[in-house]
Amino acid sequence: MNNSKIDKRISQYPKSLEYQIKSYEKIPVELFNDSKDGSIYIANLIARAIREKQEHDENIVLGLATGSSPLMVYAELIRLHKEEELSFQNVITFNLDEYYPLDPSRLESYDYFMHHYFFDHIDILEENINIPKGDLKLSEVKKYCNNYEKKIHLAGGIDIQLLGIGRSGHIGFNEPGSEDNTLTRLVRLDNLTRHDASDDFGGLEKVPYEAITMGVKTILNAKEIYIMAWGQHKADIVKEAIEGKPSAFIPSTFLQQHANVRFYMDTAAANKLTRVQTPWKVGSCKWDEDLATKAVIWLSQLVNKPILKLTDEDYNEYGLSELILNQTNAYQLNIKIFNRLQHTITGWPGGKPNTDDSQRPERANPKKKRVLLFSPHPDDDVISMGGTFLRLVEQGHEVHVAYQTSGNTAVHDHDALRYLEFYEDFHNTVIGKSVKSKSFRDLEKLLANANNHKITQALKDTKGLIRRGEARAGARFCGVPDERIHFMDMPFYEAESSKKRMLSEADISLTMDLIKKIKPHQVFAAGDLADPHGTHRVCLNAVIEALTRMKGKKWIKDCWLWLYRGAWQEFDINEIEMCVPLSPNELIKKRNAIFLHQSQKDRPVFPGEDEREFWQRAEDRTRKTAEEYRELGFAEYEAMEAFRRWHY
Ligand code: F6R
Repeated sequence: MNNSKIDKRISQYPKSLEYQIKSYEKIPVELFNDSKDGSIYIANLIARAIREKQEHDENIVLGLATGSSPLMVYAELIRLHKEEELSFQNVITFNLDEYYPLDPSRLESYDYFMHHYFFDHIDILEENINIPKGDLKLSEVKKYCNNYEKKIHLAGGIDIQLLGIGRSGHIGFNEPGSEDNTLTRLVRLDNLTRHDASDDFGGLEKVPYEAITMGVKTILNAKEIYIMAWGQHKADIVKEAIEGKPSAFIPSTFLQQHANVRFYMDTAAANKLTRVQTPWKVGSCKWDEDLATKAVIWLSQLVNKPILKLTDEDYNEYGLSELILNQTNAYQLNIKIFNRLQHTITGWPGGKPNTDDSQRPERANPKKKRVLLFSPHPDDDVISMGGTFLRLVEQGHEVHVAYQTSGNTAVHDHDALRYLEFYEDFHNTVIGKSVKSKSFRDLEKLLANANNHKITQALKDTKGLIRRGEARAGARFCGVPDERIHFMDMPFYEAESSKKRMLSEADISLTMDLIKKIKPHQVFAAGDLADPHGTHRVCLNAVIEALTRMKGKKWIKDCWLWLYRGAWQEFDINEIEMCVPLSPNELIKKRNAIFLHQSQKDRPVFPGEDEREFWQRAEDRTRKTAEEYRELGFAEYEAMEAFRRWHY
């Protein structure tokens, strides 16, 4: 994006909307379709500021963040340096934070991160880089932090501060409890933050408990602040930060006090804002059937009445008179929305043969469909849509399942060791000869020391095989023959850190090849974009990109893409386009399929902050969907699995 485009966008910022939503949003918001667009825009703002200072022979001081949020900003700045002669010789940087204690040479350190993803690729002067040191003696920390503050001051203060937001609401590592007068200091990390970092450190127990961070006040002292949030998993905290009362419980709310701050986000991260959730509270709406459905469900849940019992008074009292204005009365609207939702419910996820399908979510023909179920991790198929999966097979469709990634980061070391011991014992006793080869002993040694090592390829491969076996067992249990079970091992997932997991051409062509081979009528893919490591997002992008690229092919017109959601997040009722009820027995069968993923049982490596096991989450979620349908006035089912169609 060039400067004039940026200027244009800035001038087009919708002032009237800004005014309308002012009472809810206390930080100005800039929305983008996706994180790439937003990141390029931010990078160009920074580049423009750097160049402006260069014109006056001045330095610019940037406050920088790590984490996944700024990665694409740094990538674009690198591109601008390489292709558009952007120089960083006049740039002084101060990073927000660093884990403590942690040696800067460690791959998990923010020092390594900044050099690896940014500084090593630009012409910044090494002496202009400042990153809090994680390898200080405890007795040195206080003085060091005071000096860090002084150094920022001496450099002229921070011109632009770049921030991400943690799911705990932190900015920098200012966790809940941090007041707005805090300066650079040693802090204790919140549990949620440690969970989110566990992937990079190879397990929660390896994540440091403390960090050195700039304070809230240090951040607020910056002349300008750009804060970013990408993805649905940030939606709840984004709403709190922007619409909540300023409080130390959510330190990002203190940004509301700053005169020159902007929140850049994608539509997924904006999903919980009042203007998106209940736009009728913000101002006059353009009512279409989707928005009307959303409003009717909202009202029904708010007043605790089934849809068909909502009255004109209910609509008027809760600010929805505008909605029934062009209907004869509330009842007419109620019936319309009720029917729409009723038509989402079907026991025939592959379409009901020999029936009129005009009011059904799926086509009746062809009677026997080829179905391709994409599962990002080896257990998402059964966790998220196990009941529907079983039904599709039972109803005679040709069901293929494709495991997109190896899932090899999420197996405990001790489980891997158990399998390797079995392998050795099996050979020694059943086959009768020792297999204690040199490489096997190396592996054992590695496993014994795994706590102190970065997981190596051999160990990762072992873990991948364990998950492969479990996936095969789960799919067979659901009735899929071996030749319809596909393991894709998508390359993006094998990157050294979860932050580096970006979709590549190789991933897309793997996906295209499989789709071309099967020519499915139905594709199911995970659309729960809130998984903490972003794997589902990348996997979905691969499927959408692959299907979009093949759009010209004749057979692809018959290929419908359905999204399901998994353990992390469910669709809102108004988003659901197909809802498959499960009987109590089907629910138990689904549970048994999930149990076959033994390495994920009891305590998975990456449980997130939710204490429940995956099968419990899956059941709670699907029971909740059934309960919500019941409360809206529909029949009572044990559980329901929900889907939404994606038009590519
Ligand atoms: C990183 C930092 C943190 C992150 C936040 C979001 O230097 O200070 O506040 O910005 O945890 O992390 P990501 O971007 O990985 O979601």
